[in-house]
Amino acid sequence: MSNRRTFIKTTALVASGLAVSATALAKGKGKLPSFPGVIYTRNDQGMWEGKAGSHAPEVSVKGRKVTVYTNHSMSQEHYIVRHTVVTQKGKVLGSKTFYPDKDKKAVSEYEIPENVSGKLYATSFCNKHDFWLTEFDI
Ligand SMILES: [Fe+2]
Repeated sequence: MSNRRTFIKTTALVASGLAVSATALAKGKGKLPSFPGVIYTRNDQGMWEGKAGSHAPEVSVKGRKVTVYTNHSMSQEHYIVRHTVVTQKGKVLGSKTFYPDKDKKAVSEYEIPENVSGKLYATSFCNKHDFWLTEFDI
């Protein structure tokens, strides 16, 4: 249960961070903001250096269909808890919560609305290795 509580706290913090990030991006900085120790990316692995390959979400885009995959094992003790796809303005376009007893892969699919374009964020939360983010375009 503490992993779920940690996840909820982290999600709230990250959601507010994304809203701030969106504001910074909208002001033309054009660079993914850094939240050391809160958000990990392929380019900022922090204390989880070397874990991006199994934690940073992989995104494939085909038309308006987005598939998010985290190449991570799904055991009862160590698994991916959740994916989300979020706009630069912090709007959550979709999410999926995983349960290791029934989800053998951390993969989720989303249909992006026609009125959404530009940069989006895919997130992946590991119960042991925190919150990872991959930026992509649609
Ligand atoms: Fe992990």
